[in-house]
Amino acid sequence: MIIVLPDAASITRAAQLLQDGSLVAFPTETVYGLGGDATNERAVAAIFEAKGRPQFNPLISHVLGADDAKRFVEWNKTADRLAARFWPGPLTFVLPRAKGSPIALLATAGLDTVAIRAPSHPVAQALIRAAGRPIAAPSANRSGAVSPTTAEHVAESLGARVPLIIDGGPCLVGVESTVIDLSGNRATLLRPGGATREAIEAVIGPIAVSDALPSGDSARKSPGQLESHYAPARPVRLEATSVGADEGLLAFGPAPLPGAMLTSNLSPTGDLAEAAANLFAQMRALDRPGIGRIAVMPIPQTGLGLAINDRLRRAAAGDPSRSQG
Ligand code: TXA
Ligand code: MG
Repeated sequence: MIIVLPDAASITRAAQLLQDGSLVAFPTETVYGLGGDATNERAVAAIFEAKGRPQFNPLISHVLGADDAKRFVEWNKTADRLAARFWPGPLTFVLPRAKGSPIALLATAGLDTVAIRAPSHPVAQALIRAAGRPIAAPSANRSGAVSPTTAEHVAESLGARVPLIIDGGPCLVGVESTVIDLSGNRATLLRPGGATREAIEAVIGPIAVSDALPSGDSARKSPGQLESHYAPARPVRLEATSVGADEGLLAFGPAPLPGAMLTSNLSPTGDLAEAAANLFAQMRALDRPGIGRIAVMPIPQTGLGLAINDRLRRAAAGDPSRSQG
């Protein structure tokens, strides 16, 4: 891991790493982000791996502004008014995924919505521009640790798990962005943060606040607890050691079970990062008419396997709200 100061050469180098699917930690005005190409499932899997997150929580995709965002989400009037006042800045919008949006399914945990934000930090902007793609970035710390506001914090928390850290000095806002859901009829505050509720309401009038809204602290510790998750319509059976002719098989490893109606292999070589990258697309592919049930082969409970198994357990439980955690 190396720490570099932001200049033309280091931004070019960081952008190259992102284009190659590697990770880069970079400053935003809120906290440091652990960035990866938001359109690359493998890069997003690498983010979860580096964070050691036991769950796949949906991530924020960072863009340059409203015009950029419109390529990835279904924009609306409320977003327009809030963007005019707060972008670039510490306000994240949750909006419907645009048709054909290239944002990785893993970046949105399979949801039909995308969290999107235009950061105001000039280094973050330069990096997004140079990479030529949206950057998915959670806070650049190991899961459960506090969000980093200096390059040193990032280095202490992630160490060799991130190849390059761009040191842009301390973050001026110091808390994460406010997350507001604009995908429904009524704007709903999902996470308090750098943009205040009062300032938001001054622009669009009264907003709803999510019932489950945790305190700022717990919001940072378990940022994924608010959202529901994509769940297949078909029943899901875990730890399968044999498979029925009416079942679709989600396989793992070099020896997929024989006899399924349709088989999709998360990783023929048994690579957990590849499996994570394929998880949501393959679940969707198997969740289709003609298939009675989805059988899933055992996935090792190590590394990214924890997050994969967590997601699969939620899918098997059927009711995602019952198995939130
Ligand atoms: O300030 C920030 O927001 C920082 C910097 C790096 O931009 N990023 C950050 O990311 O705090 P993260 O991953 O720690 O938090 C993302 C938040 C989580 O609370 C997550 O649940 C929510 O955004 N989120 C993301 N996608 C969502 C979606 N589709 N629906 C609802 N909530 C979503
Ligand atoms: Mg975080």
